[in-house]
Amino acid sequence: MRTQIAAANWKMNLTYRQGEELLDEILDADIPLEAHQRVVFAVPFPYLIMVNSELADENNYFAAAQNCSDKRSGAYTGEVSAEMLQSINIRYAVIGHSERREYFSETNQALAQKAALCLEAGITPIFCCGEPLNIREAGTQNNYVKTQLEESLFGFSEGRISGIVIAYEPIWAIGTGKTATTEQAQEMHAFIRSVLEGKYGADVAEAIPILYGGSVKAGNAKELFRCPDVDGGLVGGASLIGADFIKIIHSLK
Ligand code: 13P
Repeated sequence: MRTQIAAANWKMNLTYRQGEELLDEILDADIPLEAHQRVVFAVPFPYLIMVNSELADENNYFAAAQNCSDKRSGAYTGEVSAEMLQSINIRYAVIGHSERREYFSETNQALAQKAALCLEAGITPIFCCGEPLNIREAGTQNNYVKTQLEESLFGFSEGRISGIVIAYEPIWAIGTGKTATTEQAQEMHAFIRSVLEGKYGADVAEAIPILYGGSVKAGNAKELFRCPDVDGGLVGGASLIGADFIKIIHSLK
């Protein structure tokens, strides 16, 4: 079975203490994960070392950065490089979240750089893609997402691309309480897989986990994750509530 992932994206929420308490609550639930299942916490940079050390004895639980620089190193005040993340043993980084694309003007080309630097550092990029509402209403979401994939990921070799995770997050479903229907999610995930297959072949496409993000909740996770091409979720709001995220972890295939 393909790797299935429940990923929490805390975004810019929680103090350090609140973060520790939330993590403790989730770890206290002692959820046994199967070999193909992972739980990932994408937390603010200053919390990464704490989260990594809390997870040190847990199998298949990982900390993730929410971003990294598209530059290797140097005079880029305020940036955090993939190499820095590697140096504190971070194994995952969210790349190209729609909030970063929108508020910090991240382009597909800059994201290609970020993904390349992560892969080079042994960090799995959780590459986010997804269309805004006007594109969905115009019915051109497939082309829109295909361009995001092509411009950011298609420069990689087969060997390299196999190290990524994709998160499909329709922007109209993020933080709105409006979830994509299981049909809409499955349809886009299958489309993304077909785009990957067209470029890299069926074996590579079949192996890449594709997460769904956008108002995943305790009450809808199971139904979404049951879709054959949905390999878990990238969860914002509901990941801040321990009991809810525990249910979401339990919903993994
Ligand atoms: P919500 O789960 O709050 O809709 O956020 C989704 C998201 O952006 C995860 O990265």
